[in-house]
Amino acid sequence: MASPAFQNKTILLTGATTGIGRAAAHAFAQGGARLLVHGRNAELGRDLVKELTTTYGRHQGDITFHQADLTRLDDVRALGREVTAAVERLDVLANNAGLFSSTREMTTDGLEQTFQVNHLAPFLLTRLLMKPLLAARGRVITTSSRAHMISPLYMADLQSKKHFSPWPVYGRTKLANIYFTYELARRHGAEGLKAYCFHPGVVNSRFFSNLRGISKWGANALGKLIFRSSEKGADTLVWLAGAALPPEQNGWYFFDRKPGPLARHALDRDAALRLWEASEQLAGR
Ligand SMILES: NC(=O)c1ccc[n+]([C@@H]2O[C@H](COP(=O)([O-])OP(=O)(O)OC[C@H]3O[C@@H](n4cnc5c(N)ncnc54)[C@H](OP(=O)(O)O)[C@@H]3O)[C@@H](O)[C@H]2O)c1
Repeated sequence: MASPAFQNKTILLTGATTGIGRAAAHAFAQGGARLLVHGRNAELGRDLVKELTTTYGRHQGDITFHQADLTRLDDVRALGREVTAAVERLDVLANNAGLFSSTREMTTDGLEQTFQVNHLAPFLLTRLLMKPLLAARGRVITTSSRAHMISPLYMADLQSKKHFSPWPVYGRTKLANIYFTYELARRHGAEGLKAYCFHPGVVNSRFFSNLRGISKWGANALGKLIFRSSEKGADTLVWLAGAALPPEQNGWYFFDRKPGPLARHALDRDAALRLWEASEQLAGR
């Protein structure tokens, strides 16, 4: 992937230690960004910083690691404080960390894990970072998915208490990313904030080895043959971080650098508003 220039840009990237995030971290480091990489494993984080710094000849302090487990909202709050203390302006927040869970697991906050990690944690983190984001007239990019097409959102059962089915649950969190992006742009676009989300394609990352019924061997062998690389999956993320897009595209969903395609239920503006309000209640204003 050819790296666009990110000199003078400050970028926070979540889920940077593996897969799509790792590939994007390379592109941002190569492009000269002041880069804050997030992960939950400190050792992997330190290794990544070392690798990026030496590979691209960056100075110490240009790239820093920030640890947080998104299944803990207190970790997200601490991450928000840490980043706010470290930077006055944040040009790009890339909410990329995400997971697929085959079973219904609860977080320490008492919420369904897929909902919290894929939607509520990035919702909270973004809101905690509004000051440096607005100071930079920055942009928020969220890694969504075509899986948003699987199911509409059930506002009365955001924690999938009544019925848990892995793909619809995952798909609804990726739909939530689209609603969040739209509503974020609607609320803060006039202040200069931009928000975009995207589908990375079907990527041969570790994500697949977590899927029930597909063994690690099968996922990797099959994956290499038919799915795209993490670098290709990160291409639209990296492009969105620097592209000059028309104002009417603020809040939109992209795939391979182009808008759409979106499921009809993803255009439900009322659902976007209700999800925002429900998320405020759950994460705190
Ligand atoms: N792969 C695909 O085909 C595909 C398609 C559409 C969308 N996506 C989305 O793309 C994004 C990146 O996924 P990927 O394919 O690159 O898979 P991946 O290699 O599994 O990367 C997921 C990243 O999220 C992090 N993460 C997961 N749970 C976390 C938690 N509780 N706290 C903090 N970080 C956590 C992981 O950190 P650890 O290393 O510590 O686990 C990892 O860095 C996800 O949002 C995913 O939903 C992927």
